[in-house]
Amino acid sequence: MKSETLSNTLSDIHSAITLTEKTVNTFKIMYLTIDVPNEKVNTLTTPIMTALSQIFKSLSTTQSTPPLSGALSALIIQSTKPGIFIAGADINEIKEITDKEEAFGKARSGQAVLDQLAALPFPTIAAIRGACLGGGCELALACDYRIASDSSRTIIGLPEVNLGIIPGFGGTQRLPKLIGIQRAAPIILQGKAINAKKAYHLKLVDDYVSDAFFETKRDEFITLILDPLRAKKVRKKREVKGFARLLERTIIGRFLIFYQMKKMVMKATKGHYPAPLSAVKAIRYGYCKSVKKGQLKEAELFSKLAITVLSKHLIQLFFTNESLKKYEGDVSNTVHAKHIKSGSVVGAGLMGGGIAWLLSSKNITVRLKDIQWEAIIQGYDAAKKVYDGWVKKRRLKPFERDQKMLKLSGGLDFTGFNKADIVIEAIIEDINVKKSVFKDIENHVSDTTVIASNTSALSITEMATELKHPERFIGMHFFSPVNRMPLVEVIPGEKTSPEAIKTIVMLAKKLKKTPIVVQNCPGFLVNRILIPYVNEAVYCLQDGAGITEIDSIMTAFGMPLGPLALADEVGLDVGYKVAKILELGYGPRMTVAPAFDVLHNQQGLLGKKVGKGFYTHGKKKHVNTEVMTAIQIYTHINKTMISPKHILERLLLIMVNEAARCLEESVVASPALLDMAMIMGTGFPPFRGGLCRYVDEIGADKIVDQLSKLSDQLGERFIPAEGLKALSNSKTKYYSS
Ligand code: NAI
Repeated sequence: MKSETLSNTLSDIHSAITLTEKTVNTFKIMYLTIDVPNEKVNTLTTPIMTALSQIFKSLSTTQSTPPLSGALSALIIQSTKPGIFIAGADINEIKEITDKEEAFGKARSGQAVLDQLAALPFPTIAAIRGACLGGGCELALACDYRIASDSSRTIIGLPEVNLGIIPGFGGTQRLPKLIGIQRAAPIILQGKAINAKKAYHLKLVDDYVSDAFFETKRDEFITLILDPLRAKKVRKKREVKGFARLLERTIIGRFLIFYQMKKMVMKATKGHYPAPLSAVKAIRYGYCKSVKKGQLKEAELFSKLAITVLSKHLIQLFFTNESLKKYEGDVSNTVHAKHIKSGSVVGAGLMGGGIAWLLSSKNITVRLKDIQWEAIIQGYDAAKKVYDGWVKKRRLKPFERDQKMLKLSGGLDFTGFNKADIVIEAIIEDINVKKSVFKDIENHVSDTTVIASNTSALSITEMATELKHPERFIGMHFFSPVNRMPLVEVIPGEKTSPEAIKTIVMLAKKLKKTPIVVQNCPGFLVNRILIPYVNEAVYCLQDGAGITEIDSIMTAFGMPLGPLALADEVGLDVGYKVAKILELGYGPRMTVAPAFDVLHNQQGLLGKKVGKGFYTHGKKKHVNTEVMTAIQIYTHINKTMISPKHILERLLLIMVNEAARCLEESVVASPALLDMAMIMGTGFPPFRGGLCRYVDEIGADKIVDQLSKLSDQLGERFIPAEGLKALSNSKTKYYSS
């Protein structure tokens, strides 16, 4: 094998791309290998694209590279970066674009490079091993053939819509032409990456092969496609057949497909995200036209999206998420996390059942303890229900579900606690009951077992006061429903050790959750901001607003549920309890709305779990008229000024104000983490970027002004936070860009 590094032409990225010629079964094959030095991933930065362009240009004319002579039979594009083919275009470059012309130019020049690749006069093959995303996937699509390794690290997709843009290097054009509109649509419109097996079934790749024998299989594939008859067979396999073909090949069929597609996008995005709609436009425009014409439209649509504030928000969230992947709770590297193989969960209710299921799903042995068998049985049933759902969706085989269920056992006593690496408590939210349970737990576990509480709002430091080993005690706050909500707040108490912090952070990651360390204060971070918002919704009810009116204002803003519907989901009793803890902790600005007290005292008004709260939860959800009757005595106050704009302002600014206080008090390390926590813990709309982004967008001075007016009308809960006033006075923002 002879190799030549193109150091002369690639200057600063000379070692990123290597060209190697090799003879395979008498065929001269060129291997283009990408491995950007000192980077964890390969991305298609402008210098890399320029270098690729030069290489494609030289290959298109010479057809062979010295010192070998003779015609080149094929080009393989591959990567030697572990777990990465090409992760995409350079998102930093996209983030910096503020000008539409510049965005258009970037897309056009990227398209031109991949057009050069597509036009090479010999077969081109993308040998995909690892993440092949965005621009990387578009590069693979510009090749004539694609082969992928079956490694779990091989994922293929076009995730651009997640960044508020659409693929801009020809992806919206080449993918539907390759595999059909209906197969391509979910990949482009939902931005979900797929594994090699699925990509093969969708015909996005022509073969998927064992990762262990990848090189051999790759070269066998080359030999195969260099036989014209067998190559034709490979291409024929990709053809869309049957009814799908009938639909895609007729005007009326395509009309129906695009109509449905648009409808589904609107249902999923509620019109808040323009990128998937633009992707529909790009596919629709280009499907019956040449790639060249379609790409022009794609670049136009891309350029409009790339400069939007929404896209910048989503890119910021992407970067925050990336940094969280490396996050170990800001604890020194020398600190070791305890490896968790077995655990116990105390309290088998809504949360405990969910946590026990989650641990078992990651093959951690779990002992579930409660004071009543009914709860344990319910916890078991809840776990089985989630696993059954997975079996139905073919995420698990029945025997795998059974194996996971075997990880779970339960009882009323402390059997098995002596073997637990961790105990997670999820009993009722009462500090005295919890404290006495922790004392019991400590008597049944080893000295090094980490003990965590899933409390929503109670002080971790206070709960640890009577423990023999307070250093292993910590808060691990999951969100409901446990199987769906990605956030875990990690709350060290005053005496919690760095080992305990790191253990919980790493455990949360193992459970595929996003841990964020927050300070110990009533409600911690998310509930401290969220519960006043629910409370404010009840104040709005008192002031004459309607239940559906309040909720629909917030869903129109982008929240997945309105505050009152959310209260029903969480349980009015749980929400009220936390609201009371906050009132006790923060004083008058968190006074619980009197109507909330009344509703709390009303029999059986606990929310969805009992079928009625602000709504009745039968087959259909209806407003519960009982609520307005119960709080009648309050609903005459201030009725005068409760317009939708006013409601939105109150509900948002109550959160904004508390978020500012959390930052002032360093409850969380940065505005970016605060924003991410609210998005992951409450479903705050990602396209809005988060509460701090909201302040930056509106302007701190305007927010302070609005808050001052509200505090004149409604009292001290709206007195502007010092942090907001400081931002306003210094004319600065939470985010630097
Ligand atoms: P739940 O009422 O559904 O379950 C509590 C369970 O604890 C019951 O099965 C009860 O029998 C059991 N229990 C009570 N005393 C016990 C004891 N001494 N020993 C063992 N088991 C005992 O409550 P839920 O909603 O699961 O909440 C549990 C904890 O999680 C609370 O601290 C709550 O604040 C917190 N949390 C609740 C969330 C929610 O959305 N419901 C969200 C996040 C945290």
